[in-house]
Amino acid sequence: MKALVYHGPGKKAWEQTGKPMIQETTDAVVKIVKTTICGTDLHIMKGDLPEVKDGRILGHEGVGIIEEVGSSVSNFKKGDHVIISCVTSCGKCDFCKKGMYSHCEKGGWILGYMINGTQAEYVRIPYADNSLYAIPAGSDEEALVMLSDILPTGFECGVLNGQVKPGDTIAIIGAGPVGMAALLTSQFYTPAEIIVVDQDDNRLKVAKTFGATHIINSAAENAVEKIMSLTNCKGVDTAIEAVGAVATFELCEAIIGAGGHIANIGVHGKPVTLHLETLWSRNISITTRLVDTVTTPMLFKTVQSKKIEPKKLITHRFKLDQIIEAYDTFEHAAREKALKVILEN
Ligand SMILES: NC(=O)c1ccc[n+]([C@@H]2O[C@H](COP(=O)([O-])OP(=O)(O)OC[C@H]3O[C@@H](n4cnc5c(N)ncnc54)[C@H](O)[C@@H]3O)[C@@H](O)[C@H]2O)c1
Ligand SMILES: [Zn+2]
Ligand SMILES: [Zn+2]
Repeated sequence: MKALVYHGPGKKAWEQTGKPMIQETTDAVVKIVKTTICGTDLHIMKGDLPEVKDGRILGHEGVGIIEEVGSSVSNFKKGDHVIISCVTSCGKCDFCKKGMYSHCEKGGWILGYMINGTQAEYVRIPYADNSLYAIPAGSDEEALVMLSDILPTGFECGVLNGQVKPGDTIAIIGAGPVGMAALLTSQFYTPAEIIVVDQDDNRLKVAKTFGATHIINSAAENAVEKIMSLTNCKGVDTAIEAVGAVATFELCEAIIGAGGHIANIGVHGKPVTLHLETLWSRNISITTRLVDTVTTPMLFKTVQSKKIEPKKLITHRFKLDQIIEAYDTFEHAAREKALKVILEN
């Protein structure tokens, strides 16, 4: 089969590799139907995650059709359509029992990171029973790709950890697919004001159509001053970091109001300064989280009932073998007016 193989920072190739096989009785092999590229893949390509080995097939999102199941898989059979969760979980260990699938003792986020991923014609999914979700007949599979990662990530790491409440003023820093997922799902809780910050005018314009009440291009304007003036110098109740950069985390520290919550989503490759000299007395909380994907079944219902329409995040469609071009488009999102790209096998 062919797959997108990582060969160290800045190096990747669409090349011939071995087709995955069942290794454990709890595995499934899935034929990819649709997959996509995540901001985290861009962090890997930049070298922010040096633990990723040369030869790794990237990708941790997608929908597909089961090709084969191991003898102890009981929830799925050959031919079933499934959503692949970006997090692999056994469902049985202490962390899984606590709902913290991201730290499953036998899984967690391993796909396209520690084991081969979904930017391929086929992928092996360990602990298939707990790591795949059935797709009912007639569903819009493209929309469901957004349930692999970005929707649970924006919701769990951003909205739930950020404790968004009715009437709150929130800021979302980063209007990529993950920031947009936080924007869509924050509205379950009817915050009064949603300020979205990015440097990409196209993404900011899209954020406005998705419910942002204010947009700020932080390359063109002083985001701290603007947010302080929008909040009567009080700062925001929740600041969601959805970039994974030093400047954007420090922006969250500068705009957080008393009693507020900084909810970090971004994958960081560099240390940031914790400004305790200003924050020690502000009654704030700072949370970090690797997405658990425990809310996937709930989010699935909101997508099926069209309470949220993540399909609108898809701007570009490619064939899977055009994946190098798709990476270029996603990497140059402002130039290409890109949000989520879909690759079809
Ligand atoms: N915690 C988790 O479990 C988890 C899961 C998935 C993704 N992530 C992370 O979430 C982040 C967002 O993912 P994405 O797919 O939306 O990525 P993306 O690269 O598409 O989006 C990042 C956005 O940040 C903007 N940006 C960059 N520098 C900026 C700056 N200085 N000021 C303002 N905006 C800036 C970019 O223009 C872009 O729109 C990434 O760091 C990704 O690794 C974390
Ligand atoms: Zn991801
Ligand atoms: Zn587990």
